[in-house]
Amino acid sequence: MTVTLTNPLRVGLRQERVVSPQCLVIFGASGDLTSRKLVPALFELFRQRRLPTEFAVLGCARRPWSDEEFRGQMAEALGDLIHEHRGAWDQFAAGLFYEPVDLQQPEHLVRLAQRLEVIDRHRATRNNRTFYLSVSPKFYGSGCSALAAAGLLSDPERSRVVIEKPFGRDYGSAQELNRIVQTSAKESQVFRIDHYLGKETVQNILVLRFANTIFEPIWNRNYIASVEITAAETVGVEERAGYYESSGALRDMVQNHLTQMLALTTMEAPGRFDAEAIRNEKAKVLQSARLADELEPWNCCVRGQYGPGGTARRPLTGYRQEPGVNPNSTTETYVAMKLFIDNWRWQGVPFYLRTGKRLPKRMSEVVLTFREAPVHLFDAAGGSPTANQLILRIQPDEGAGFRFEVKSPGSGMRSRPVDMHFSYDESFGEPSDEGYVRLLADAMLGDPTLFTRGDEVEAAWRLYTPLLELIEDSPWQLPVHPYEARTWGPAAADNLLGRDGLMWRRP
Ligand SMILES: NC(=O)c1ccc[n+]([C@@H]2O[C@H](COP(=O)([O-])OP(=O)(O)OC[C@H]3O[C@@H](n4cnc5c(N)ncnc54)[C@H](OP(=O)(O)O)[C@@H]3O)[C@@H](O)[C@H]2O)c1
Repeated sequence: MTVTLTNPLRVGLRQERVVSPQCLVIFGASGDLTSRKLVPALFELFRQRRLPTEFAVLGCARRPWSDEEFRGQMAEALGDLIHEHRGAWDQFAAGLFYEPVDLQQPEHLVRLAQRLEVIDRHRATRNNRTFYLSVSPKFYGSGCSALAAAGLLSDPERSRVVIEKPFGRDYGSAQELNRIVQTSAKESQVFRIDHYLGKETVQNILVLRFANTIFEPIWNRNYIASVEITAAETVGVEERAGYYESSGALRDMVQNHLTQMLALTTMEAPGRFDAEAIRNEKAKVLQSARLADELEPWNCCVRGQYGPGGTARRPLTGYRQEPGVNPNSTTETYVAMKLFIDNWRWQGVPFYLRTGKRLPKRMSEVVLTFREAPVHLFDAAGGSPTANQLILRIQPDEGAGFRFEVKSPGSGMRSRPVDMHFSYDESFGEPSDEGYVRLLADAMLGDPTLFTRGDEVEAAWRLYTPLLELIEDSPWQLPVHPYEARTWGPAAADNLLGRDGLMWRRP
């Protein structure tokens, strides 16, 4: 069963806003994120005609590249895409510039300010600037301070700063970073990125909940028995061992991406659709969230680490054998946990979160399992009727599904479950933009709706503090359970749900 558009007219489905004249300054312009995500996203915006002609990108890093070298490096990174769109690339590349800047050298920021004035005149960018900190997190605070000291954040209407993840390592460091950032700029100028919020399907959680009347009355503890939030990856640590060893799945995925999905799924309806109203509700619900057992967190959390696996023809390396990983590493590549939200809507409903690397399938989803019918009148094909489930598929195969019981054909009165599907691709016929396309455009438009506010980030870190402290102080109480690569994580994670009489969904 599928769902189709009521008005299947394909033209005019997209709603896009054009960025205002400005210069985007990228610190870390020679880094991985810039070439893999940011410049491709900007080129996509350019091709969609969402960048004005009064636009420039100024790349900054320490290495002494010229404008031409920067353009050449970005062209190489975009590869075949440029050959397909040569003319567009030439026009786009004419707006790319480079300035060698060490964020730790105040005089470099002074030179940067002068270069920006030249670009403003040359490209008519009207002193309007977005500064993107795509550098090591250790420069987020000092970078903001340096920009402020150079007077580059003094106009809140014309300057803003985008900060990459991770924002802090724990509650204390996030508080301290917020303090420094908020001393340098107004909160309205600060755009903390969580690229999950750039996904169409994550935004769709809000539309599904608040544009339809049928969901809201049952979106609570009276009808929902449990909620599962999963972000599964098939890849291992790849070339990111240096970063991942000091991060792990809890910091890399749970505190940000999974928690954002949790917040959107559980928040109250905002009073109106604007950034502050939405972010107020998200911060509020996160303040009510807690680990299922805060005093003995090992009862509600399981950590895992992938070992070798795969097949004889395609063997997969275990985490400890990956280049750059400590052979005795206790960093988790998998984490599963149970949370509660202590408010009127959700009291007593368990929320199960899990994420892991080297799992059998790449997929992210939110699954709401409804309470069973109070009386079973019919025989069920599988022994007992399957509870209704609403499945919000974040990626891939973006869309939603609903599982419910129907009568099996035949003379008896047996029930069996069926699935109803909505697919973005089938209904809208075009792939969604990469998250960075949306987020870059929104930051440059000064729209903070899809960015995390300071108090939200702190609430998210505070939620996981008992776990982070336990891992730090007595890691043996939360050991990493090995699991074979390309399996669904350690058996201990199955027991976490098994104790509640449940099983993880295996899509
Ligand atoms: N890569 C990803 O997929 C990804 C995903 C999510 C979040 N992030 C976050 O994005 C940020 C950048 O990641 P990345 O992977 O692009 O890192 P990266 O490849 O290590 O690049 C770091 C960049 O910072 C520059 N840099 C270093 N010290 C500097 C200084 N003192 N002043 C100015 N520039 C300096 C480097 O160039 P020079 O050596 O020439 O100075 C380089 O361009 C990190 O915070 C990361 O956590 C990355």
